[in-house]
Amino acid sequence: RKLIVAASVALTMMAGVAHAQERNLRIAFDVPYEPFEYKDENGELTGFEVELAEAMCEEMNANCEFVIQAWDGMIPGLLARKFDLIMSSMSITPERAERVLFSEPYYNTPGGWFGPESFNTDVTDMAAMEGMTVGVQRGTTMDTFVTEEMGGVVTIKRYTTADDMVLDLEGQRLDVVFVDYPVGEQTVLSKDGFKEVGEPVKLGQGVGVAMRKRDEELAQEVNEALATLKEDGTYNTIMDKYFAY
Ligand code: ARG
Repeated sequence: RKLIVAASVALTMMAGVAHAQERNLRIAFDVPYEPFEYKDENGELTGFEVELAEAMCEEMNANCEFVIQAWDGMIPGLLARKFDLIMSSMSITPERAERVLFSEPYYNTPGGWFGPESFNTDVTDMAAMEGMTVGVQRGTTMDTFVTEEMGGVVTIKRYTTADDMVLDLEGQRLDVVFVDYPVGEQTVLSKDGFKEVGEPVKLGQGVGVAMRKRDEELAQEVNEALATLKEDGTYNTIMDKYFAY
């Protein structure tokens, strides 16, 4: 009996060591999605979520690898084990929660309406919006909202990447875009001739880290790490760096 106890203690210790050494995590970002994840002038991956991920990995004692993944393949890529966590401004929704496990929310972002200075239509007035062309990133909560609320009224253009959408707005191929508020603020409002054209719309229950359903232990560690970073001020320092408000 003594022997068995000793052996199981040894095993637990070995497992602990193996755990500490082999903890590799791959985190997926859809780039560019400024200020959440994008490349700086030097081509380095940066942004609010990139720095938060770095701090989180340090807190979790994990060796992290960052993976660039197009938005429309995020959940399939996670389920296919191409990476282990999604930190890509993914809003928590009941539909997604059926397929992935979310951490506690670490950010809140409404959808924002952005268009040219000349735009003077009430985006909630369907009669006035009739025939307009609205841009969204495909498969986002903004896409779902516009499809459900304005389908048949406006023409919806769906983009694989947010920057292609902004390019089309600049090229006047879109009347208005509906995008995560901070992204519009930093990629549209930063340019001359554009403004916010409607009230932000709350979509989802905040933004969370998405993981595979069975990774409950990982989710718990992620939640603990995020809570620590909020408590010790790291989270706020990173926020202040990337968000203007
Ligand atoms: N927050 C929105 C959603 O969950 C859009 C996120 C898009 N993220 C990105 N990195 N492109 O649908």
